[in-house]
Amino acid sequence: MKNILVTGGAGFIGSAFVRHMVTTYPEYNIITFDKLTYAGNLDNLLPVKNASNHTFVQGDIADRETVHSTFEEYSVDTVVNFAAESHVDRSILDPNAFIMTDVVGVYALLEEARQLGIGRFLQVSTDEVYGDIEDGHYSLETDHFLPNSPYAASKAGGELMVRSYHITYGMDTVLTRGSNTYGPYQYPEKLIPFFITEAVDDRPLPVYGDGKQMRDWLHVEDHARGIDLVLHEGKSGEAYNVAGEDLRHNIDVVHKMLDLLEKPQSLIKYVRDREGHDRRYAMDAVKLRELGWERKHTFETGLQETIRWYLDNAWWWRKIKSGEFLEYYKRQYADRIAAAEDK
Ligand code: NAD
Ligand code: DAU
Repeated sequence: MKNILVTGGAGFIGSAFVRHMVTTYPEYNIITFDKLTYAGNLDNLLPVKNASNHTFVQGDIADRETVHSTFEEYSVDTVVNFAAESHVDRSILDPNAFIMTDVVGVYALLEEARQLGIGRFLQVSTDEVYGDIEDGHYSLETDHFLPNSPYAASKAGGELMVRSYHITYGMDTVLTRGSNTYGPYQYPEKLIPFFITEAVDDRPLPVYGDGKQMRDWLHVEDHARGIDLVLHEGKSGEAYNVAGEDLRHNIDVVHKMLDLLEKPQSLIKYVRDREGHDRRYAMDAVKLRELGWERKHTFETGLQETIRWYLDNAWWWRKIKSGEFLEYYKRQYADRIAAAEDK
């Protein structure tokens, strides 16, 4: 392992992984390959801008020619694929890009990697492939898939392509399934950065349904270290859950954020629920812990530090929220918030 292509490395978790790898392994060359969609952001890579072991290439994982030439030009021997459309609400508004990147794009990467005999291929996946998990159960890697949103189904499709390349062609693959991740540089469409940045401006916080859905929160640096460990130590053909093992009701997370920000709870607006909304995700990370992983961040301190980061880095998110985000906000929230205020 020497020349590692990190696809989707200009996004939230991908850029945390790139920052981690560039500093932890000066002997590796890290090549970030990213289409720079609305979610890709070169500002996320500013901390490694001058690193001699990092290069950036703009490209689409579904574009086989560019993937092929990048593999050759940089003598890529390892692929870590973060590239994806990642937001459930957007997948409900329009699934097309999800199929094109999360399924077709994964196939394109796999096929080019197979033809060039590239070594290890790590696919970054999600706990959402397991579907809605009943109280008391914690998903294991051997549990079946029951994805419910177009996003979750496209990620499951990508995973199954990876599995097939391992079984059929003997490709050296590993999979990680992460839980809800939070931390610096997360695009402010996801619950935590969206609500922090809206609350700073005293804007309404649209809680879907009754707010009693449960998510399992994982700090992005713990997620990145988990992926690093699976890349180096994971058994070929296997999947590994990367879980915070810290489940919270959404509404409790929102109350806590408002308290920490010293903003009034009256900013909360209960709005029409997400269609097909999964109530609970929960995974058991025992298999990853057996490889030696443990999380370093508790949710309590991680959330405080994350809020501090957004307060100190308004330059980063204000730029984003004045662009494409405004159009998305209108489509996703205008009716919901208007209806909530009419009640
Ligand atoms: P993100 O939306 O912040 O970043 C995705 C990145 O992929 C962006 O930089 C984007 O430009 C790039 N991209 C999208 N389509 C591309 C294409 N066709 N070719 C090349 N690049 C492309 O996403 P994230 O939250 O960092 O998630 C990264 C990965 O982790 C995804 O695969 C996601 O499914 C998975 N995941 C995310 C979470 C979470 O809570 N955010 C949890 C578990 C797993
Ligand atoms: O579980 C892992 C998944 O976590 C990843 O695979 C996805 O890429 C990532 O986006 C995330 O999916 P969620 O749908 O769980 O995350 P999101 O931040 O969109 O929502 C978290 C919870 O908060 C969910 O129950 C929906 C709710 N929510 C979200 C938003 C954006 C609201 O109530 N209001 C909102 O405005």
